[in-house]
Amino acid sequence: MIVLKTTRELDLMKEACAIAAGALKAAGAAVAPGVSTADVNRVAHDYIVRHGAIPTFLGYNGYPAASCISINDEVIHGIPNKKRIIKAGDIVSIDVGATFNGYVGDNAATFAAGEISPEAQRLCDVTRESLYEGIKAAVAGGRIGDIGSTIQRYCEERGFSVVREYTGHGVGKVMHEDPSVPNFGTPGRGVRLLPGMTIAIEPMINMGGAGIRQLPDGWTVKTRDGKLSAHFEHTIAITANGPVILTQI
Ligand code: MF3
Ligand code: CO
Repeated sequence: MIVLKTTRELDLMKEACAIAAGALKAAGAAVAPGVSTADVNRVAHDYIVRHGAIPTFLGYNGYPAASCISINDEVIHGIPNKKRIIKAGDIVSIDVGATFNGYVGDNAATFAAGEISPEAQRLCDVTRESLYEGIKAAVAGGRIGDIGSTIQRYCEERGFSVVREYTGHGVGKVMHEDPSVPNFGTPGRGVRLLPGMTIAIEPMINMGGAGIRQLPDGWTVKTRDGKLSAHFEHTIAITANGPVILTQI
């Protein structure tokens, strides 16, 4: 069931999203060679709690942390670990959610640790830009497929591939609401986009093939071919005046 939010509800949700965005920014600023992923997670966790919010991910289906931190060929859902030390040249994807006012804000971005290769930089730039292109396509009266097809075309034209097994999602009082928001698809197909819909758009884009596998830890998702992957996510609202990025600060 798709839950449409009133303007008043969007205002409440915007506060949760601002906290999620602040946590992402703070955690991203902590990314540096020599720092552990547990340290980065701690920054996100503390930011959320300090702002009176709840770390949405912590305990979600048993997930043990406030954020997911995925390095290089890890696509998503990397579990923070004090023994996992970030190295110069790594790309570090951080995904973090905050619950506040009874609403969830969900966002992610990939950060560079020290100097990264031009190819890695290009992957991050294209993935981020594909998110903004997908957001532009999220207009009332359009369809879910308009978003995914835009992201897919943008990334594939530039030689990258789109992970299929995981998608964006509706978001509101809980992290995962209807509809599913794939990063691939056909223009004009799928659920109709309506004012008041709030969705998380989150392209997961690979340098090599689209294939992924899950590690035995039950969470970490990696590329099959060991090549790099990047991930950017915003929570947005669809309004009569166009898409509004709620996790933009
Ligand atoms: N942000 C992720 C998503 O959109 C959620 C991470 S999974 C969790 O699905 F278990 F860590 F919360
Ligand atoms: Co999400």
